[in-house]
Amino acid sequence: MKISTICSLAVSLLSVVSAAPLQLKKRNSRWDYQNDKLYGVNAGGWLLLEPFITPSIFTDVGGDESNWPVDEYHYTKQLGKEEASEKLQEHWSTWITEDDFAKMAEYGLNFVRIPIGYWAFELLDDDPYVQGQVEYLDKAIGWAKNNSLKIWIDLHGVPGGQNGFDNSGIRDQLNWQSSDVYLNLTAKVLNDIASKYSSSDYDDVVIGIELVNEPNGSALDLNKLAEYYNEGYEIVREYGDVPVIIQDGFRPDHYWDNTLNTEENPDYWDVVVDHHHYQVFSHDELTRSIDEHVSVACGLGTSEGAEYHWNIIGEWSAALTDCARWLNGLGRGARYDNTYQGAGYIGSCDGYYIGNKSVFSGETWNNYRKFVEAQLDAYEQSKVGGWAFWTWKTETSIEWSFSKLVEVNVIPQPLSDRQFSNQCGY
Ligand SMILES: *[C@@H]1O[C@H](CO)[C@@H](O)[C@H](O)[C@H]1NC(C)=O
Ligand SMILES: *[C@@H]1O[C@H](CO)[C@@H](O)[C@H](O)[C@H]1NC(C)=O
Ligand SMILES: *[C@@H]1O[C@H](CO)[C@@H](O)[C@H](O)[C@H]1NC(C)=O
Ligand SMILES: *[C@@H]1O[C@H](CO)[C@@H](O)[C@H](O)[C@H]1NC(C)=O
Repeated sequence: MKISTICSLAVSLLSVVSAAPLQLKKRNSRWDYQNDKLYGVNAGGWLLLEPFITPSIFTDVGGDESNWPVDEYHYTKQLGKEEASEKLQEHWSTWITEDDFAKMAEYGLNFVRIPIGYWAFELLDDDPYVQGQVEYLDKAIGWAKNNSLKIWIDLHGVPGGQNGFDNSGIRDQLNWQSSDVYLNLTAKVLNDIASKYSSSDYDDVVIGIELVNEPNGSALDLNKLAEYYNEGYEIVREYGDVPVIIQDGFRPDHYWDNTLNTEENPDYWDVVVDHHHYQVFSHDELTRSIDEHVSVACGLGTSEGAEYHWNIIGEWSAALTDCARWLNGLGRGARYDNTYQGAGYIGSCDGYYIGNKSVFSGETWNNYRKFVEAQLDAYEQSKVGGWAFWTWKTETSIEWSFSKLVEVNVIPQPLSDRQFSNQCGY
């Protein structure tokens, strides 16, 4: 308590006396987070499986739903290393290729966030996971270079599980902080990543290493999480100057202002906060009108523009429903049509569930386009450093697929085109 009081006093004194405090935050030229914008997508469901992005990988296991594994952990466990490896090699070599990177550049993007699990680098003794992802990460870096795209390496799953989502590799498991075995292995993985990708061979491409994706802030020990961010920062800095990305852990805006703060300690520099924004994961959010959805997005832009750290919105989507098949997990329904959690029916999932492009017309098209444009305005507004859409492509869902949304004209082309101007009134 006392220390933090002294610190915040020191901060307020420093911000008064320091002539140009923002300059201290920046030491290298890999990317100018203060002045330049990132326009990006996530390479979701590629080096780390997600049932909602590629349902066919899970249904191809055969039998009915009771036989389908719910995440990559159980997928590899069920198939065994040999078959899992064969299937995943096939997936990695086809789901995203250099053509996709060329297409991203063509759509006006300059950035790709690449999620990858710890198991691509290090395995726990009894892990069923298979490896081989790093070869594709390295290919992607080459494709990025070729197409003038920047990338983040995003540690999306850590040992023990940090959020309970299937996209951590293992669903409903939140044991990351419960054992030093997990925490030590996480540090080792960060060492592997930082030692390799800090090399000057990559300094025109790799502009961020994200320490952990979406740690569940309401379930984890937040002091331990801040300690991990400090430790992770030191590990990345041991090898060089790659910007260090910390995810907000579902904490309110400004929560991380005093973590890795340059004014408190000039050894901290090039730190970026990654915010994720969706408005479909509760009944209340799903019942918002389009004007309310827009207004929430605009408010986030204002609030995050005033944070201490540079930040980007590293995940967001066009979704106004949670209808995409298995978005809430394999075998689970949707809140929107009251087939999940039972808080009440809002509307039909027909069309959204199967990804019917005809749905995106008339009033529905207006609403989606408004929502996307408002988010672009918010996440590009003066002090926010840009965005990465979740995700580049999906097998069926349209609300979550950047490439399909371009086809239905919900994502503007060029990206700066506005059909509904100045919605945020900044
Ligand atoms: C870059 O593009 C060239 C020309 O299309 C291609 O030959 C080369 O393989 C690409 N490099 C990488 C690393 O993908
Ligand atoms: C974890 O790492 C710490 C620091 O290196 C070490 O003291 C400890 O024994 C390790 N714990 C386990 C369970 O490996
Ligand atoms: C995090 O954990 C809490 C408590 O276990 C849970 O209620 C919540 O749904 C989880 N997810 C998020 C995003 O907070
Ligand atoms: C797709 O949506 C259109 C318009 O709502 C509808 O007429 C058509 O039957 C739908 N197609 C399928 C395959 O459900």
